[in-house]
Amino acid sequence: MRLRNITGSEEVIANSEYVIHEPSSGKWKEIFGNDHPVYIEIGMGKGRFIIDNALRYPDVNFIGIEKYSSVLLRALQKLDAMETVPANLRFLCIDAKEITEYFGKGEVDKIYLNFSDPWPKDRHAKRRLPSRQFLSLYDVILKKEGKLEFKTDNRGLFDFAIEELEPAGWKAEAVTYDLHADAVMSKDNIMTEYEEKFSSIGNPICKYIISR
Ligand SMILES: C[S@@+](CC[C@H](N)C(=O)[O-])C[C@H]1O[C@@H](n2cnc3c(N)ncnc32)[C@H](O)[C@@H]1O
Repeated sequence: MRLRNITGSEEVIANSEYVIHEPSSGKWKEIFGNDHPVYIEIGMGKGRFIIDNALRYPDVNFIGIEKYSSVLLRALQKLDAMETVPANLRFLCIDAKEITEYFGKGEVDKIYLNFSDPWPKDRHAKRRLPSRQFLSLYDVILKKEGKLEFKTDNRGLFDFAIEELEPAGWKAEAVTYDLHADAVMSKDNIMTEYEEKFSSIGNPICKYIISR
């Protein structure tokens, strides 16, 4: 992901009605005005996946999380170009490290990680979003019966993510190493920007669904 500093992106985000600015733990029912399930994508990039989900599933509340304002701006520009913005969609411009300030215990029904940054150096392993350090934060905010879904074309990152499960107290419910060739796991699949890019050059997409 190119991280050019886009002039004014922070100001656009600060003024956007779709971005939640204050720690919002325990407040999502109030923010959406309903008690629909809450699904979040951490590291959403330009937002195609979360926006398409919000359009397809109006009875689920979707929150896209992105660390960089210059990237989140791209998602806001997509909303700008839409005739009607789905009412079940909000964004957070935060680092995933802060996630427990934004969601209360068990407040989230599903977590999506899509094409998370690989951080290839061993000493950066704990920065990887499917690492055991992050799984312990997801453990707090995810409902007891909630699930986490992770997709990537990076086999090294995927193997690492599988190895992290047991020590962190999670288990795999379903795993594929070629999502687009798997009729069951690709049913209703919504593509991300990176998924489109990497599958179009022939990279197989790995996916797991995990729970505790
Ligand atoms: C490789 S991109 C994938 C974007 C999108 N999910 C997709 O599949 O097209 C990873 C995104 O995760 C964001 N990201 C990485 N670490 C993050 C963190 N700790 N908290 C929030 N976002 C993060 C990056 O800024 C980047 O936009």
